[in-house]
Amino acid sequence: MPDLRQACTSGKPSEDTAPSDALVLFGAMGDLAHKKIFPALYHMVRRGHLDVPVIGIARAARTDEHLKERVRDSIQQQGGDIDQEALAKLLKLLRYVGGDYEKPGTFDLLQKTLGSTSRPAHYLAIPPSLFTNVVESLAKSNDMKNARVIVEKPFGRDLASAQQLNAALHGVLPESRIFRIDHYLGKEAVLNLLFFRFANSFLEPIWNRNYIESVQITMAEKFGIEGRGKFYDDTGAIRDVVENHMLQVVAFLAMEAPTGIYCDAIRDEQVKVFRAIPPLDPKHLVRGQFKGYKTEKGVAPDSKVETFAAVRLEVQSWRWSGVPFLIRAGKCLPVTTTEVLVKLRKPPLDNLAGESSNHFRFRLGPGEISLSLVARVKRPGEELISMPAQLSAVEEHTADEVDAYERLLGDAMHGDAMLFVREDAVEAAWAIVDPILATATNLYSYEPGSWGPREADGLATDVDGWHNPEEHKESTVHVANSA
Ligand code: BG6
Repeated sequence: MPDLRQACTSGKPSEDTAPSDALVLFGAMGDLAHKKIFPALYHMVRRGHLDVPVIGIARAARTDEHLKERVRDSIQQQGGDIDQEALAKLLKLLRYVGGDYEKPGTFDLLQKTLGSTSRPAHYLAIPPSLFTNVVESLAKSNDMKNARVIVEKPFGRDLASAQQLNAALHGVLPESRIFRIDHYLGKEAVLNLLFFRFANSFLEPIWNRNYIESVQITMAEKFGIEGRGKFYDDTGAIRDVVENHMLQVVAFLAMEAPTGIYCDAIRDEQVKVFRAIPPLDPKHLVRGQFKGYKTEKGVAPDSKVETFAAVRLEVQSWRWSGVPFLIRAGKCLPVTTTEVLVKLRKPPLDNLAGESSNHFRFRLGPGEISLSLVARVKRPGEELISMPAQLSAVEEHTADEVDAYERLLGDAMHGDAMLFVREDAVEAAWAIVDPILATATNLYSYEPGSWGPREADGLATDVDGWHNPEEHKESTVHVANSA
């Protein structure tokens, strides 16, 4: 497989790939900045990939020193050895601008702080309801000619608001300078789905409805909403992870091979998958809320927001027609892992094949990243019967690993949009979930530490039930990272 990044950036007009000369981070005092963005910036500096001013902006009246303190704290909380030289370099790059996003004065101050820089990247790590206002204010007081805008998910609240946001952004910038982040697209394990599918020839003949019986994706999180009550209660599981992270995983599993020779090869295939998925039927949705959610800080006492969602969809294409795709995502489940199970049809001879069929299992992290094939082999002994054996490649974590945010921020600052969600894709994804957002559906409560409400089982009865990531106990033949 060619280096897709090179393919993407070659042949573009040079002004689109000239690196950004400043990074402006809206929402610098927020949770996302602390958890994900500061560590990404630190690693970029450590690798020599970032040496431009980083301007943190937030509502609070704070100083450069406060921002530096917050960055130090974030890096310390990551654990492990800290490269003090890299941290010191990052701290030197930081400036803070405080002010109300509704007041023009804030943007004038930002313009002053940007000084002579001429191609900043503005990263909006703020609630979607503020995007339009911020972008319009930027356009009024700042020179946006060469600016880029990086926008966090969720991009809007539904199809109509996503369309409005797209229109507002396009009023100020061309699509080539808009970078809609879905950090799942920057994850090694998610990108590996593409490589496993398209860098091998053995898979293609069976990767279709003739051999594949069903596909399941479980995004389980053991933790709850971790102090993000206000954001979460405004969002819910469908908007938080199903419309974006989960559908992107579906796209990588279901897409046709990208040609890999032009920038939008992958994005064209993604959008084709989304367009082949009919809008979700509320009958194929089960929503749940963990017991105790309503007493979390920032959550309405009568909240009807889901912390668990299970859906069943179809990709109506020549390759996938009739194959159920099941997605389940939730907080306060028994484990933290995202796992894909691709189940193959059973071969005809029951006495050889036994009860279970072959399957591929992709663990996408966090934690273990692995790819397994469960095949049937002869059980040792006198009897002529089979048993499952698991062939696994487990990826070991290394210091060189590039975190999703680090990859994506670097890409955006170099104008490489390949791993960002294009306008048509974001709208096609919202079109899939729009009917389940617009319809009032039951909300079932579930015990923290369980696999969500029992009602979700009903979606998976014809595929032998949900596969729970922790339950795999096949005998294992390890071929870890063999050359
Ligand atoms: C975020 C969601 O986008 O992704 C969170 O807002 C979720 O609710 C997180 O926990 C999961 O990301 P990761 O990379 O930790 O699997």
